[in-house]
Order: sequence, then structure tokens, then C-alpha cells
Amino acid sequence: MKLIVCENYDEMSRKAADLVAEIIKENPKAKLGLATGSSPEGMYAELVNDYQEGKIDFAEVSSINLDEYVGIDPENPQSYQYFMNYHLFDKVNIDKNNTNLPKEYENLNEATEKYNDLLDKFGTRDLQVLGIGPNGHIAFNEPADKLNMRTSIIDLSPETIKANSRFFDSEEDVPKQALSMGMADAFDAKTLLVLASGKAKHEAINKLVSTDKLDPQFPASFLALHNNCYLIVDKEAYEG
Ligand code: F6R
Repeated sequence: MKLIVCENYDEMSRKAADLVAEIIKENPKAKLGLATGSSPEGMYAELVNDYQEGKIDFAEVSSINLDEYVGIDPENPQSYQYFMNYHLFDKVNIDKNNTNLPKEYENLNEATEKYNDLLDKFGTRDLQVLGIGPNGHIAFNEPADKLNMRTSIIDLSPETIKANSRFFDSEEDVPKQALSMGMADAFDAKTLLVLASGKAKHEAINKLVSTDKLDPQFPASFLALHNNCYLIVDKEAYEG
């Protein structure tokens, strides 16, 4: 794992954006795996700036996202679809037909199968952006005795509901389930870019950089299996 410790969130965001921009410049048809949440927000803002300054072009880029809450429709400002539109897709020249997030929840089994089919068609990504939950979750693969390889419906853990309540009016409003790529799906990329910022992530980052065990109760430990993984964190996440 290539660890990069930045002074602060802004530096982390810029370094992350540089890595994404480099991949798009090398391959204008880059296939990106994207994440939502506070960790990559600044990186998306930097990429929008780069686009506005004519440094990168998203015309032929395609993307697929890690996850989406169950029971929240795409127009809802709390949905991950809305997040992606707001932070990136509506502000750059990406073709929205080439962007993918889980949707259609009338039948959850069907939605899961469809997402796995979509992932298979999409193929290995050039880069996958990931955040880490304070409990070490990757995408929404929560600590468990066994981790899913492929997309599934996940019951969010009490810690995740609590952590994500900062985006909602109250903890009761946080959805209880999400549709999430499995671990094998999340890692099916040539490069992984993992971001973490702030003291709330210190425990997870400390555990990640010091553990020598693969532990399904700490899903982030499996990042060690990927041979091209960048962990870009700020000082607060690294030092506490
Ligand atoms: C988001 C996702 C989650 C987040 C994680 C950290 O698409 O899959 O795993 O990356 O919960 O969230 P933030 O960045 O908000 O701390």
C-alpha cells in the first residue's frame, strides 16, 4: 500500500484529483469507479476546476458507483445519485448515459443481479475511489463474519447509521439498508485510491496501517491484497 500523508483535507483532495486526472489524460476512455461521502467531495471539486480550466476532458470517461441507499429515489437530495450529479456529473462534460449507480428497488434481488450484470459488462476499472467507514467498512461491506464478494443488500450497522446521520436531519432518517458492490467488485480495478480525513477516521487508519491480519470484522484490512493501492490521508486521520 502506498501511504501518502497530507497536511490537510485540501492537500489530500488535490493529490487525489491529480491521480484521477493523470489516469484520464493517459486514457481519455478511462473507466472510473466512484464513491460518495465527505472524503471525495473535495477531490470532485478539484476535478471540476481542472475541467473548467481545460486540463481534463470527461467526454469519453465512463463511471460506476459503489453503492446507493435503499428506499431513497434518485431525485432525493440524500441519494447518492443526487450527490454524484451535484458534485461532478452536472459540472463536467461526462455523458450521463455512461455513468452508473444502482437504482430500481421494487425488487431488491433483481436490482442486485442487474448491478452484478452491469459490473460484468463494465469490466475492470482503471481506478476505483474508496472511502473507509470509522468501523473499517469498504463500500457498504460492514464488519461481519463473512464478507460478500458480489453486490448485495446490506443492513447498515448502528455505527454507520450514526456516522451518516450527519448528512440527515436525524438518525431516524438515515436509511437502514444499502445496495453495495461486494469486496471483489470494489477491488476490481487497476488502481485503488482510498481517502480518509479527520480524527473520526484515526482509529480505522491506525488499524489499517498496523494490522497484519485479514479480518472480515475489519473489511479495510483486505486492501492489503491489492497490488496498486494508494492510501491518501490527512494528518488528523493519520495522527489523531
Ligand atoms: C460511499 C461509500 C462509503 C464511504 C464511507 C466513508 O460511496 O461507499 O463506504 O466511503 O462511509 O464516508 P465519508 O467519506 O463520508 O466519511
